[in-house]
Amino acid sequence: MQIIYQTLPLSVVAADWLVIGIWEDEPLVGVSAELDAKLGGMLTKLREQGDAVGKARELTPLYQVTGIAARRILVMGLGARGKSDFASLLCCAAASGRMLSTRKARQIAVALPDASPMDADAVLRAVVAGFFQGSSTAGLRKSENERTPPAELVILGTSPETSLLESVRRAEIEGRCTNLARELVNLPPCDLYPETFAERARDIAVRTGLELQILDEQKLVVERMNSLLAVARGSERPPRVVLLKHALGGSRPTLAFVGKGVTFDSGGLSLKTTDQMVDMKCDMAGAAAVLGAMQAIAELRLPVNVLGVMALVENMPSGKAMKLGDVLKARNGKTIEVLNTDAEGRLILADALAYAVDQKASHLVDLATLTGACMVALGYDVAGLMSNSETWSQKVLAAAAVSGEKAWPLPMFPHYREMIKSDVADIKNTGGSRYAGAISAAKFLEEFVGATPWVHLDIAGPSWAEKDSALRDSGGTGCFVRTLVELARAYDAG
Ligand code: BES
Ligand code: MN
Ligand code: ZN
Repeated sequence: MQIIYQTLPLSVVAADWLVIGIWEDEPLVGVSAELDAKLGGMLTKLREQGDAVGKARELTPLYQVTGIAARRILVMGLGARGKSDFASLLCCAAASGRMLSTRKARQIAVALPDASPMDADAVLRAVVAGFFQGSSTAGLRKSENERTPPAELVILGTSPETSLLESVRRAEIEGRCTNLARELVNLPPCDLYPETFAERARDIAVRTGLELQILDEQKLVVERMNSLLAVARGSERPPRVVLLKHALGGSRPTLAFVGKGVTFDSGGLSLKTTDQMVDMKCDMAGAAAVLGAMQAIAELRLPVNVLGVMALVENMPSGKAMKLGDVLKARNGKTIEVLNTDAEGRLILADALAYAVDQKASHLVDLATLTGACMVALGYDVAGLMSNSETWSQKVLAAAAVSGEKAWPLPMFPHYREMIKSDVADIKNTGGSRYAGAISAAKFLEEFVGATPWVHLDIAGPSWAEKDSALRDSGGTGCFVRTLVELARAYDAG
């Protein structure tokens, strides 16, 4: 999907579809009023009849329109103007993209809504992100495509072309890299496992100029990543740790992203039930978000230093699998008693975080589909945010807000540390109770970050859409790629 920005009058744009946004409970303004006039008052009439009143995500296709060059119109409800923000506009655009992507349109033109409370850059990026989201599919292995994104998405605006060129580029890159993360999550675990994930990272590194290192089993032994290796031991598929470096920040500090990449989580010997296991190819969504963000940051050539660490394993039961009662020694020397092999994410992140700290990362963000407990607390669409630094948390929350993604802080009071005390080792890998499960997991991770400011995002909820909706196909969501890109853009450790 190529993104093109134009400032032509709407009536001369010869697209398969012209998408026009209208606000709820307001007279038509700007471009929508202009179009209404060309159409002989049709939009006004539709509103009066109650057919197209501008409710958020209301979609009204108009066929056989005359008086303009475009072949069809899609009237896209935008909801109340005063309440419009990045996330709500993205949803409206996603609904439009989803509807049109089944109709094989080659060129779709979207008129940027007038009088939005947001600036033109944010409006443009929200619309483009929505179209990318709505028109991509989880049906990667279907014999026939059910969705075709348009070859060209023409954005019609009023601001001078040059002022928004950078926004267009950023929007296109973020959309494509978010879809990369979705694709990786959606690929079946027979095809996507640690080695093949690492190969995808290699392709991306070659194309973008990112520095790449792939740690295989031998190197992981040398790097003392024994906690990660213990998780991997039950599987026929060897583990990998992928390191990607973007180093355009000169002598400035390094931001590190660490992603959980369990390409399939069976639970190990603490085997999951079929219902619990059925979607567990999604358990590498954290690593996918890191890869998507690294690619975007490299393509944008952001003037920062970013290290991406992707910890890739398959969690399987077997005669070689780690056992309950095993004690592991992590990279930083701490000993861990394994009481549940299904709490594997924290075991691999322990070593990956310690590695990032040893690489002198100044700030850390980890992303992990870590606990069902986080979904109990916050539901599907919201990530849990846990941290050792109030200042760094605020920066991550700000980047999420700018990107229209939802994260919410959970407390990290010192007394929660009691939950991971072990009788036989320094710590144990479960919280020992079903309460505060997202937090006891975060307390475990905190043991591996030292004094480095760190934010943990538990994305078990938002990384996966259970069902199809008007806004996207079910499956991987590519969540937090845009937030990480924004964080890198705004990064200033000073
Ligand atoms: N990958 C799961 C968490 C998960 C659950 C992600 C549902 C997405 C949807 C994780 O490895 C896990 O199994 N966590 C356990 C931890 C428990 C054994 C302490 C859980 O949440 O039940
Ligand atoms: Mn698990
Ligand atoms: Zn898991």
